[in-house]
Amino acid sequence: MSQRVYIFDTTLRDGEQVPGCKLTTAEKKILGPALEDLGVDILEIGFPHSSPGDFEAVQEVSKLLKTATSCALSRAIQKDIDVAADALQYAKRPRIHTGIGTSDSHIKYKFNSTREKVLERAVAAVKYAKGFVEDVEFYAEDAGRSDLEYLCQVLEAVIKAGATVLNIPDTTGYCLPDMYGHKIKYIMENVAGVHNVIVSTHCHNDLGLATANSVSGVQNGARQVECTMNGLGERAGNAALEEVAMVLRQHHHELGFETGIQYKKITEVSRLVSETMGMPVQANKAIVGRNAFAHSSGIHQDGLIKNRSTYEIIDPADVGVEGHNIVLTARSGRRALAYRLDQIGCPLNDVDLNRAYSKFLEIADQKKEVVDTDLAQEIVPMFEKVNV
Ligand code: KIV
Ligand code: ZN
Repeated sequence: MSQRVYIFDTTLRDGEQVPGCKLTTAEKKILGPALEDLGVDILEIGFPHSSPGDFEAVQEVSKLLKTATSCALSRAIQKDIDVAADALQYAKRPRIHTGIGTSDSHIKYKFNSTREKVLERAVAAVKYAKGFVEDVEFYAEDAGRSDLEYLCQVLEAVIKAGATVLNIPDTTGYCLPDMYGHKIKYIMENVAGVHNVIVSTHCHNDLGLATANSVSGVQNGARQVECTMNGLGERAGNAALEEVAMVLRQHHHELGFETGIQYKKITEVSRLVSETMGMPVQANKAIVGRNAFAHSSGIHQDGLIKNRSTYEIIDPADVGVEGHNIVLTARSGRRALAYRLDQIGCPLNDVDLNRAYSKFLEIADQKKEVVDTDLAQEIVPMFEKVNV
């Protein structure tokens, strides 16, 4: 039996915090329903108290969502919570996400406060939010660097105050997968009442470990993952939705988890997010990068043409990638050239292929990539039978 992991998408909130990626209400109204169609369970739409524009965006997008929970962020401040609740008034499934920093660094430098006072503020915020909505998620900011015993005390207290979800953010992307997994396990084993709520990961990517940490969290008891499309987010970003979802899918037999993500829509939504935010996806980005399924070296192409499983662990079509993935460069071999020529209607025998390959290498040494129009203009005319 698979266990369900809930996908909490924060592209519109943490993702939007990337400099230059700010979204208008109209843009959030395009992306929100697209993310819901992708199958996310919870959509963090924004931080309503941060600006009138974000208040409006949360209100408008939450009206559009049919199945996903609409979530709004707030600090552990009554005014923030009032505004979040107001913005969520039309949501079918509203959730207030409130919280406070629990690491000694946050307590001392951000709040100039004490552990006791921060615990009191956490409890008060959750109780206050419960006055507006049933579903209240508590975040312990910088949990990744918080003292574990103290973190557990805070979590136990906010469960008693009515929290339904406990978010354990590795805000600074500091943890190693084992450390983060251990933290979640310890919480699962030592916090009274934890089995009546959902524990969530929220991992940042400062050391490139956000996906690994999120998966480790799930393996140790978390059942919600907070993530963003294309891994967007503060600084080096958040755990990438597409990576977490595909790790859980590709390792379903060993791990036994499932999500509601419609995998075939991943590429389309990734492109929509990238275009709407004006943030290109790096070419070698796992799952959604331009080169994620491209094969350029002769050795790899030869294996791939014989059998895809030699160099592909994911069928590109499973994430909605269409078209060929054999890229022709000066490192490509005869088989790949023959394959591409065949695909554009120019099958060649071995003798002709040798001639074609010599010409191909001349072109390829001058260019980064040889595309179909190069073949059509420079190689196909060498063989009269061809019709492209
Ligand atoms: O990274 C973080 O700690 C956050 C919280 C506001 C949830 O984004
Ligand atoms: Zn964050």
